[in-house]
Amino acid sequence: MIQLRDVHKSFDVRDRKTRKKKRVDAVQGISLDVKPGEIYGLLGPNGAGKTTTLRMIAGLMKPDAGVIEVCGLDTRTKGEEVRGKLAYLATDMQVYERFTPREQLRIFGEMQGVDPATAERRGLHLLDRLGLSDFVDVKMTSFSTGQKQKVNIARALLHDPKAVIFDEPTTGLDVLTAKTVLDLLQVMKQEGRAVIVCTHAMPMAEDVCDRVGIIFDGKLHGDAAPKELLRSRNARSLDEVFFQLAAESETASA
Ligand SMILES: Nc1ncnc2c1ncn2[C@@H]1O[C@H](COP(=O)(O)OP(=O)(O)OP(=O)(O)O)[C@@H](O)[C@H]1O
Ligand SMILES: [Mg+2]
Repeated sequence: MIQLRDVHKSFDVRDRKTRKKKRVDAVQGISLDVKPGEIYGLLGPNGAGKTTTLRMIAGLMKPDAGVIEVCGLDTRTKGEEVRGKLAYLATDMQVYERFTPREQLRIFGEMQGVDPATAERRGLHLLDRLGLSDFVDVKMTSFSTGQKQKVNIARALLHDPKAVIFDEPTTGLDVLTAKTVLDLLQVMKQEGRAVIVCTHAMPMAEDVCDRVGIIFDGKLHGDAAPKELLRSRNARSLDEVFFQLAAESETASA
């Protein structure tokens, strides 16, 4: 349902100190395939290329080379249709604090072309699943980080997307709040959606993901079920695999 074939993306940036132009090869030939009913964990250190990959899948950025398809639609030529089939939760999403969740969901439903009754029904159902039903008519000025994130998640899913890509959905959340989000990911899976989740929370990835891929320096390593990956690298945890890859990457660039 979500397919990437040999995707590349580079940025021309200016070095802060020397002011010289340099090229950052953020994504260097990533291929992956996420099927309906599958949760794929995209892991990797800061600056590895995870968000860039997700932004390209969401059609917010074009790859320099390679092909990305969501539900069989090429993101370069069918960006609008792709966005109609996909939920993208970014790391920097904000809520409009002067609104209540119900009001915000109505506004976003309209923007996504969902009729108001359906948007309200889906939105309230999602907020109920996320344990926020007592707060649907409360202004969000007083909301905690977790409560705001739950509203953002409900808002991202209003249009019944077939593909779901969440960038660090549990960062900044306590373990209980994180669990409600992870439980929702499991529901997404059971409903047959294809899910990609970026995270730094390795134990969570081990528990929740059917497959994980680790991005290092823009390249994908170890695209496999977590247990299989641990077995193949003779490691006890994904953290350990992470350290191994970091050491290999340092040796290769030395
Ligand atoms: N719009 C942009 N312009 C220039 N450079 C960019 C841009 N977006 C990303 N980069 C660079 O591309 C590289 C990959 O960034 P990206 O945000 O994809 O990493 P990430 O894996 O999501 O990291 P993190 O875990 O910190 O979120 C970094 O070196 C980053 O500075
Ligand atoms: Mg990121």
